Amino acid sequence: MYSELVSHRASVDDLRRRNPAALILSGGPASVYADGAPRLDPTLFDLGIPTLGICYGAQLLALELGGRVDRTGVSEFGRTELQASGGRLFASLPGEQTVWMSHRDTVVAPPEGARVVATSDHTPVAAFEHGERNLYGVQFHPEVVHTQHGQAVLQNFLYDVAGAAPEWTPAAVIDEQIERIRAQVGDDRVLCALSGGVDSAVAALLVHRAVGERLTCVFVDHGLLRKGEAEQVVEMFGGSFHVPLVHVQAQEPFLARLAGVDDPEQKRKAIGEEFIRVFEAEARKLGDVRWLVQGTLYSDVIESGGTDGVAETIKSHHNVGGLPADMEMQLVEPLRLLFKDEVRRVGEELGMPERMVWRQPFPGPGLAIRIIGEVTEERLESLREADAILQEEVGRAGLYRELWQSFCVLPAIRSVGVQGDSRTYGYPIVIRAVTSEDAMTADWARLPYDLVELVSSRIVNEIPAVNRVVLDVTSKPPATIEWE
Ligand code: XMP
Repeated sequence: MYSELVSHRASVDDLRRRNPAALILSGGPASVYADGAPRLDPTLFDLGIPTLGICYGAQLLALELGGRVDRTGVSEFGRTELQASGGRLFASLPGEQTVWMSHRDTVVAPPEGARVVATSDHTPVAAFEHGERNLYGVQFHPEVVHTQHGQAVLQNFLYDVAGAAPEWTPAAVIDEQIERIRAQVGDDRVLCALSGGVDSAVAALLVHRAVGERLTCVFVDHGLLRKGEAEQVVEMFGGSFHVPLVHVQAQEPFLARLAGVDDPEQKRKAIGEEFIRVFEAEARKLGDVRWLVQGTLYSDVIESGGTDGVAETIKSHHNVGGLPADMEMQLVEPLRLLFKDEVRRVGEELGMPERMVWRQPFPGPGLAIRIIGEVTEERLESLREADAILQEEVGRAGLYRELWQSFCVLPAIRSVGVQGDSRTYGYPIVIRAVTSEDAMTADWARLPYDLVELVSSRIVNEIPAVNRVVLDVTSKPPATIEWE
């Protein structure tokens, strides 16, 4: 389903002009009673557009339309049992279901004329519906994986209540983007930087479909990739898809730039600058190219506060806004409207091999931000080998796709161990595996202990510099997924 994130500050006229099939009012961290808390013009609810409020959105609906929201003093956080009774949102779903709650204030009376269709132990109004006015509210979060039937609740709202057909299919996205790219670049030549990840790969293939040989891909191998990844990229683009590809072997200059650097943001900066230097040098060799492809996703746009600065800026992702100011190229961003799962489906439709489509996200600065402290060739080698063992065993256990990311981290400490008859003083390796929908939040993955044991013993046996393996059991928030 095509969706856009729009600021609550958008005017009712603006929203009407967009002619939406439905509106979803998102959750948010504020209390509806806080100073400066986001509010909406209540005339929006007179337009008859089917509207679903989630968490804060539901509280706002209640507050604006004659219901009541209280600070009950009891907050509800985490998995919660919900009792649903009737209602269109819960059609064909079991009455008892597990949902994810995360709130302090609580709706104690629904909007005037609405009826309560679900409750939980601590929340008297966990969901309400006002059929005539087409207004719906849920206190829980249907959008997170921990809500058992969350997807079905959203489908009931979109397909059944709002009558919106799921027509925004991968094939439709491809056709639409090809047309848009052709209209944008005309007969010009286009350049694309491949990173080894699924986003830039899908973006490149889309553009290749649109402009053919007028696209040139540049793959800067900074030596910070995982084992075997560079070879796969070259094989897939050059070999299978016959996309014009320049493979730049730049391991040495990157390592030289990273010498003595141990601050995470300095590392990102050094890698970003070096990348641009190498890339620009290659681009110059290609002559006059006006267009540059970027695999920017909708979540990057949101996370960079790109939609009117409503979402809080978390980290400066170098995909967005990280290009040099004097680079005289204009951007082609065919994935700017897509979330990660949609990108993967487009990749499959384009015929990309499974191991590339389902590749877990990998940060641009690569293994450098998974080595705490200085990046040296030896430490890179240890981490790369440990990571390869983890990937191999996670794959063998059939868990690769289930995990949003699984990787190893090499901290900058050493600890004492004993191997054979002698004491060692070696590095630990941290196993980090998370489940997530979009990296904005993540849960640490409950890897089977047998798998953890196998990975641990292989790592300490096969990598001489490592004598200890530990498991990261922290979710995001409060931690981030990466360690740097
Ligand atoms: P965090 O660590 O912020 O990561 O929870 C969220 C997601 O972003 C990826 N990540 C990056 N990707 N350049 C990138 O291209 C970066 O500097 C960067 N830092 C984090 C991370 O792997 C996770 O998927």
